[in-house]
Amino acid sequence: MSQRYLITGGAGNLACQLTRLLAERKAEVLLWDIADRPQGPIVGNCSYVQGDLRSLDSLRTSFRRFSPDVIIHFASLLSGSSEERRTLAWEVNMDGVFGLLELAVEFGVQRFFFPSSVASFGSPLPTPVPEDFPQWPTGLYGVTKVATERLGYYYYQKHGLDFRCLRVPIVVSSAAHTGATSSYASLAFMEACRKREFTFRVRQQTRPALVYVEDLLRGILKLLDASEESLTRRSYNLQALSPTSAEIAEAIVDRIPEAKMRFDPDPEITSLIDSWPTEFVDISSRQDWGWDPSFDLPAMADHFIAALQSRQKF
Ligand SMILES: NC(=O)c1ccc[n+]([C@@H]2O[C@H](COP(=O)([O-])OP(=O)(O)OC[C@H]3O[C@@H](n4cnc5c(N)ncnc54)[C@H](O)[C@@H]3O)[C@@H](O)[C@H]2O)c1
Repeated sequence: MSQRYLITGGAGNLACQLTRLLAERKAEVLLWDIADRPQGPIVGNCSYVQGDLRSLDSLRTSFRRFSPDVIIHFASLLSGSSEERRTLAWEVNMDGVFGLLELAVEFGVQRFFFPSSVASFGSPLPTPVPEDFPQWPTGLYGVTKVATERLGYYYYQKHGLDFRCLRVPIVVSSAAHTGATSSYASLAFMEACRKREFTFRVRQQTRPALVYVEDLLRGILKLLDASEESLTRRSYNLQALSPTSAEIAEAIVDRIPEAKMRFDPDPEITSLIDSWPTEFVDISSRQDWGWDPSFDLPAMADHFIAALQSRQKF
C-alpha cells in the first residue's frame, strides 16, 4: 500500500523537489505551507493545503483528513529571517514543531523526519566534526535546530515517536534562495549558465560542506526507509563534498569556457562562511542506513549544468 506523506514547508525548495521522488514510489502527498502556492513545479499524487504552523487547529484538521504515515517537517524560518524576526522564528521553529510533534504522537504517525543544519554547531570546529561534537550555535536558527533535535529525542524516548534527523550541509540546488549568503555555490552555476559570469564574494580557498540536492533528497528517503533496528542514533551527520570556490569556478569554466568567474571577497561574508564546518564524520550514516552520495564535484557540475541548460527546474 502506498504511504501517505505530510510535508510541512510544502511550498518550499526541498519539498517541491522531493515530490519527484515520492511520485516514483506512488506515494500520496499532502504539501502544507503558509504560502499561497508551491514555489516550484510539483508532480505525482499531491494535494496542497495552505496553513500556518502556528495554528494547531488548522494542522489538526489536516491530520484528521489525511491520516499521514510519515511527517517531513521542512517548514522553518531560515537563518537570516530568524535573526531579523526572533519572535516569529520562535513561534514557527519552536512552538510550531512542539505542536506538530504532539499531533504526530496523538495521531500515531509512523515516522517523523526533521532537517537540522550544520548551523546547529558553533565555531570554531574541528575538521572533521565528530558525530557527537557539542552543539553550541551562535545564531537563533541554529539554536532552534539543536533544540528540535533534543525535542525529537525526547519524543522518541518517552512517547515512542520514530523521530529521524539529518544535519544538512549547504544544499546546492537551482531553487536556492538568491539572497542567502549560503547560496553562493548554487548561484555560481546558475549565473554562469544564465549570464556567463559570476563574482564570488568569498575567498578562492573557502570550502564549506555542501551537498547536491539529488543526493540529499535520496538520503532523506533512505533514512526514512531504514528499519528501526538498523539505527543507532536519532540525529545523523552528512558528508558529501567540500570543494573550494576556486575548484567550483574551474569546474564551471571546464564546462562553460566562455563563463567569466571572478573573485571579489567581501570580508563579512567570507568570515561568516569560513566559520562554517568543512567536513563531518558521517560513519554512522554510512553504516546504519547506507548513506553513499553519488555526486562529487565533476558529477554535480555535469548534472547541474545540464539540468540548468535544459531549463529544467528541480
Ligand atoms: N536549503 C538548505 O541549504 C538547507 C540546509 C540545511 C537545512 N535546511 C532545512 O531544510 C528545510 C527546508 O529548506 P528549504 O530550503 O526548502 O527552505 P524554504 O524556505 O524553501 O522552505 C521553508 C518553507 O517553510 C514555510 N513556512 C514558513 N513559516 C511557516 C508557517 N508559519 N507555517 C507553515 N509554513 C511555513 C515557507 O513558506 C517555506 O515554503 C528547512 O527546515 C531548512 O532549515 C535547508
